[in-house]
Amino acid sequence: MACSIYYLTNIKTAMGHFALALILGLACAIFACSKSNEDAICFDVMDYGAVCDGTTDDSQAFFKAWNAACSSETENPSIIIPKQTFLVNPVVFRGPCKAKNINFLILGRVLAPDSPQAWEGLDPSQWLVFHGVSGLRVSGSGLIDGRGNGWWEQSCRDHPDLEGCTSLAPTALNLISCKRSSLKDIHFVNSSQTHVLIMGCDGMDIGNLMIQAPEISPNTDGIHIQASNDVIISNITVGTGDDCISIGDSTSNIYISNVGCGPGHGISIGSLGKSGNMVQVENIHVSKVYLKGTTNGVRIKTWQVGKGYVRGVTFKDLYFDSVENPIIIDQNYCNIRGACKELQSGVHISDVVFINFYGTSSTDVAINLNCSRSVACTEILLKSIQLTSASIGHTLTSNCTNAFGYTFGMVQPQPCLQI
Ligand SMILES: *[C@@H]1O[C@H](CO)[C@@H](O)[C@H](O)[C@H]1NC(C)=O
Ligand SMILES: *[C@@H]1O[C@H](CO)[C@@H](O)[C@H](O)[C@H]1NC(C)=O
Ligand SMILES: *[C@@H]1O[C@H](CO)[C@@H](O)[C@H](O)[C@H]1NC(C)=O
Ligand SMILES: *[C@@H]1O[C@H](CO)[C@@H](O)[C@H](O)[C@H]1NC(C)=O
Repeated sequence: MACSIYYLTNIKTAMGHFALALILGLACAIFACSKSNEDAICFDVMDYGAVCDGTTDDSQAFFKAWNAACSSETENPSIIIPKQTFLVNPVVFRGPCKAKNINFLILGRVLAPDSPQAWEGLDPSQWLVFHGVSGLRVSGSGLIDGRGNGWWEQSCRDHPDLEGCTSLAPTALNLISCKRSSLKDIHFVNSSQTHVLIMGCDGMDIGNLMIQAPEISPNTDGIHIQASNDVIISNITVGTGDDCISIGDSTSNIYISNVGCGPGHGISIGSLGKSGNMVQVENIHVSKVYLKGTTNGVRIKTWQVGKGYVRGVTFKDLYFDSVENPIIIDQNYCNIRGACKELQSGVHISDVVFINFYGTSSTDVAINLNCSRSVACTEILLKSIQLTSASIGHTLTSNCTNAFGYTFGMVQPQPCLQI
């Protein structure tokens, strides 16, 4: 008990709670719940047996607090993770819940097991999972630490000769089949693989996140969105070993703005169509992104074997600081360059707008639109692009293959679209 500061504030009335919390200097205004307010009850993991010493597994306490809140009749229940350190083994928080909205407030540090062994017999793709919840609001000033080092050290990508190397490692936070939900203010570090996965969700508001992992960590994407609609991501800072944000198949109405990205692989749509499937990606809007030292700026990559479309994409107001491939469309994506033979199929990429780009490229081909002969890229628009080389004495170029569209205003380097 003594290890929860929040616990001290747990007194009878909501008002008293608030006042005492202020005295303790906690950001408690956002608590808006108490043990007595019937419309907004708090479910503190400390009351469900959490030990919070950072070494004892607290996942059962988290699980019990979740189940109590989820089955509670109260209007606006909140699970509270106080300002302490919790070791949490892989756990699934399932919905649907009784309440219309349910809050998951993380104020402390949530640590993943520090060794892959904790996943023995469990699904190695997941650590923390919310499944089938509507009105989920995950927030708080806390930290989610994936402690991925043990997984990175056995990753097949980085250690192909290691016996028992792994290609699949846990995604830190999985929001699966959620509706009308949000994820705010959390700080993520060192996930073993992707940090945040949005999968099968309708209506997701993501904001004020900080996501950090070493540049050399394998496949540690910041946020990956898959099979989801109506997703807003704003005001986030990502620096990892893979894509800052990646957008997968069956996605529409995705709005991304105010992103700081780097190190990492930039913002990516794809890869898509790998299994010869019917790709459906549309209305993707990315604006106000600052990219620093990334391997790509904005990229769309599709496999020739795929079908379907990527359409209605805007990239607007992007600033590049020494980015390797600022603008890249690769419709001939293949994990081994040149190993995929030319096919008659392809994912049709159309109505893609690049507007107001400034800054520097660290490679000479700053615009690379590599489209397929049989299913060319169409309605590509380049407007107000001002890219210069990050190295003195270099001149930037564009390289287009089967890319059709228009150029407006000043475009540097010299564009190469076919009309
Ligand atoms: C993330 O992992 C790296 C490498 O293991 C480590 O140096 C760094 O301190 C970790 N970051 C945090 C915030 O724990
Ligand atoms: C953006 O996020 C940062 C922390 O990452 C925060 O300090 C700042 O207040 C946020 N800005 C807005 C407008 O929400
Ligand atoms: C375009 O894709 C083809 C097929 O993968 C590849 O051989 C070629 O080098 C690419 N061109 C550029 C400029 O990247
Ligand atoms: C453009 O790409 C083609 C191959 O896709 C290559 O042969 C050519 O040299 C490239 N041009 C520039 C300027 O890099």
